[in-house]
Amino acid sequence: MHTESDPTCPPDAGWYHDRRYRVFKQAKAEIGHLLGYFEARHSHNGHTVQTETGQEVINFSGYDYLSLSRHPEVQKATLDAVARFGSSAGASRLVSGETPLHQALERRIAEFLGVERALSFVSGHGANVTTIGFLFGKNDLIVHDAYIHNSVLEGIKLSGAERRSFNHNDIQDLEEKLKQTRHFKHVLVVVEGVYSMDGDAPDLRAIVALKAKYDFVLMVDEAHSLGTVGETGRGIAELYRVPPEAIDILMGTLSKSLVSCGGYIAGRRDLIDFLQYNCPGFVFSTGLPPANAAAALAALDIIDREPALVEELQDKARYFLDQAHAAGLDTGTAGGTPVFPIYLDQHAAILACNALREGGVNAFPIIYPAVSRSAARIRFFLNRAHSHAQIDKTIRLLSSYLSTLSDPGLAA
Ligand SMILES: Cc1ncc(COP(=O)(O)O)c(C=O)c1O
Repeated sequence: MHTESDPTCPPDAGWYHDRRYRVFKQAKAEIGHLLGYFEARHSHNGHTVQTETGQEVINFSGYDYLSLSRHPEVQKATLDAVARFGSSAGASRLVSGETPLHQALERRIAEFLGVERALSFVSGHGANVTTIGFLFGKNDLIVHDAYIHNSVLEGIKLSGAERRSFNHNDIQDLEEKLKQTRHFKHVLVVVEGVYSMDGDAPDLRAIVALKAKYDFVLMVDEAHSLGTVGETGRGIAELYRVPPEAIDILMGTLSKSLVSCGGYIAGRRDLIDFLQYNCPGFVFSTGLPPANAAAALAALDIIDREPALVEELQDKARYFLDQAHAAGLDTGTAGGTPVFPIYLDQHAAILACNALREGGVNAFPIIYPAVSRSAARIRFFLNRAHSHAQIDKTIRLLSSYLSTLSDPGLAA
C-alpha cells in the first residue's frame, strides 16, 4: 500500500514496515554519505589503491595480507585455468563440475594444515553457514565467542541448535557455559583463529585442554589466521603448537591470504567425506570456479615455499602496533596479528576516516550494527608490502587529526 507519508512505499513490500529497514534508512540518510561505502577503486586491492581520479592512496582495507594478489605465479595460474577450463565450474562438483584443480587445491590445503582432507566451498561465509547448519540440529548446543563472525551465527540459526555465547576470549566463562550440557546430543564450541574486528587470538591451548574435561567438538574459523599467524603461516594450531587434529573442524577462507574467493572446511577424512556427498551448500551449489581454485593453490604454494613472507608481515605488524602505542592510540587487545582496531567514539571514527582519506589513507570505520554502539573503531588490515614510512604517515595523520578532537564540537 502506498502511504501518504511516503508515496514510494511499494505495495505489499514486507520489509518496508520492518523496524530494521526504518533504522537502516534513517542511518543511511544521516551518515551514509560520510562512510565511503561502495566507492569503486580502480586498481587491485593492495597496500595501495588507485582512486577514480588516479590518485594513489595507502590502503588498509584489503585482505591481501601477504601481498600476493598480483604475484606473477598467481596471475599466470589464474589465466591458465580460465584458458583451459573456462570461467565457471559449470555444474555442481558432484556431477561434472570437478576439475583436477579442485582436487589439487584440497590436497594442498590438507597437507599444509597437517590434516587428512579438505573441501572447498564457493564462499567462506557460505561454508560456515552450510557446514554448521548441516552438521548440527535442534538437540545440540553451540557455544561461541561473543565476537564470533556473522557467518557462524547464521549457521547456528539454520541448525536450530541452542546457542550460548561466552565473553570474548574468556576461558573461564567458556567453561561455565560448558558445565550444563548433559541433556544435549552434541556440543560444538566455535572460535576464530584471529578476530577480524579486534585483532586478537583465543588461547587455543586452554580451549583444547577443556576438551579433556568436557565432551565437545571444536571448530576454529581461520579466515584471518591462515597465512598470518604461526611461524610459517599455518595458523592458530602452529601458533600454539597444538596438533592440528585437536581442532575437529578447521574452517578457512580462500579470500584473505589466499587472494581468491571461497572457503574451505578441513579435518578428518570421515567429516569431509560426509560433507562432500551431503552438505547442501556444497552439493546443491555450482563448484568453485577453477580459476579461483588455481589462484588459491598458487598462493598456497608461494606461502609454503617462502615463509619469510609471513615473517615480514609479522615484523610489520609489530611495528604498526609499537607506533600506534607510541602515539597513544587505543588498540584494545590487538596483538600478534595483522589486524588493528583503533577505538574511537562512533562519530569520531567516521570523521577520522574521512580525514585519513583526505590525507591519502584508506581505512574504514566499523560502527553499529557491525559492533556494539560503544565499541566503534577504525579497522586496519596490514599488508606485507606496507612500508614503514606508510605506517608512520598513517599513524601521524591519525594522531594529528585526533588531537583536534579536544574541540567538543568534533567529538560530539
Ligand atoms: C572470521 C570470518 N569468517 C568468515 C568470513 C567469510 O569469508 P568470505 O569473505 O571468504 O566469504 C569472514 C569474512 O570476512 C570472516 O572475517
